[in-house]
Amino acid sequence: MADTEIHKGLAGVVVDYTAVSKVNPETNSLLYRGYPVQELAAQCDFEEVAYLLWYGELPTDAQLDEFTKLERSQRTLDPTVKKVIDELPLSAHPMDVVRTAVSVIGAQDETLGLDPTWIDRDLTQQRSITLFAKLPAIVAYTQRRLWGKELVEPRDDLGYSANFLHMTFGEVPEQVVVDAFDVSMILYAEHSFNASTFTARVIASTLSDVYSAVIGGIGALKGPLHGGANEAVQHTFEAIGTPDKAEAWLEDALANKKKVMGFGHRVYKNGDSRVPTMLTALETLTAYYERPEVLEMYHALDDAMNARKPIKPNLDYPSGPAYNLIGFDTTMFTPLFIAARITGWTAHVMEQLAANSLIRPLSEYNGPEQREVPASEKN
Ligand code: CMC
Repeated sequence: MADTEIHKGLAGVVVDYTAVSKVNPETNSLLYRGYPVQELAAQCDFEEVAYLLWYGELPTDAQLDEFTKLERSQRTLDPTVKKVIDELPLSAHPMDVVRTAVSVIGAQDETLGLDPTWIDRDLTQQRSITLFAKLPAIVAYTQRRLWGKELVEPRDDLGYSANFLHMTFGEVPEQVVVDAFDVSMILYAEHSFNASTFTARVIASTLSDVYSAVIGGIGALKGPLHGGANEAVQHTFEAIGTPDKAEAWLEDALANKKKVMGFGHRVYKNGDSRVPTMLTALETLTAYYERPEVLEMYHALDDAMNARKPIKPNLDYPSGPAYNLIGFDTTMFTPLFIAARITGWTAHVMEQLAANSLIRPLSEYNGPEQREVPASEKN
């Protein structure tokens, strides 16, 4: 046992190749299929980025037109999915509601059947687009239900983000808000072998279907060390109260060995490459909503952390308050992450299937030595 090197949390372990994205902590860069994510956020809509992640290239106008039509034709919330959501208690976490809704869509997919079409490339692609198209309706309805409001039908004259916000709030907000939301979707879309994507790949590696992989991904994303951090950031801001109290709050948190949510990253140690772009979006939103104190709080806690430890904010730090400003309930923040990451997860599922090897690591046993079941148990 002493000779076995244990890679706790698989830290630093390279388990496979990927052509979907490249995270480079040395240069603080993130490339989707070779393109810097900051440039994609500035120049593309989320639909184009989804296409890029799946097909490897940005779409031509004709390809985007065809893709957009396909996406818009599938935006409606299926009545059975709505019925199942309506059966769930309002106390359920929206992550669990969305996970259940994806499960229903999978179980209803007659092309899934009981045979190996589970892993068919084209069908997996079609199913991925279906989930991409339907998640805004699921997430928006989950939010509206918490407000005691009715479902809003999708509009096929709107782009992805404008429609998502229309289905949530019953109206399309100003373009600055739509743009900031779209940027968050692009930044959240993909991040190599993070915990939820790896979970999805493990499930795909058993030749299970894409719905099962996505459901597993949602489960992994829920935790506060991963996607759940964006909700936790909002709770932190609320617990601190006002920016002048950030330093004392942090002092206390660190003294009590608490992890400060929205800070730190397994791969980036000098800052998350996505943060500057999302911080700009947050600045736009604080100006638009005339809420400068949100930005003050952002910097107060960041400065206090900077003075104490070299731990930098991650994407969840600016995105949590941005979603709060747009008007989402805090428990909806991580479901928004699902709607974005469905693209990355499913691109990885298809990549895994294209060159599959069952993911099955080893462990070093450290339990009791072999022993006999006591005679009294054998009767
Ligand atoms: N607050 C306080 N201390 C921290 C934090 C933090 N957020 N992150 C790391 N540290 C400290 C940690 O206590 C440890 O200190 P020491 O060496 O003195 O024991 C050191 O830094 C190394 O931390 P680690 O937890 O071993 O590092 P890791 O690579 O396993 O952790 C992490 C990465 C993301 C789990 C961790 O930074 C963390 O828990 N952050 C808060 C949760 C969070 O924001 N998650 C979102 C991650 S990125 C976006 C996403 O996936 O959604």
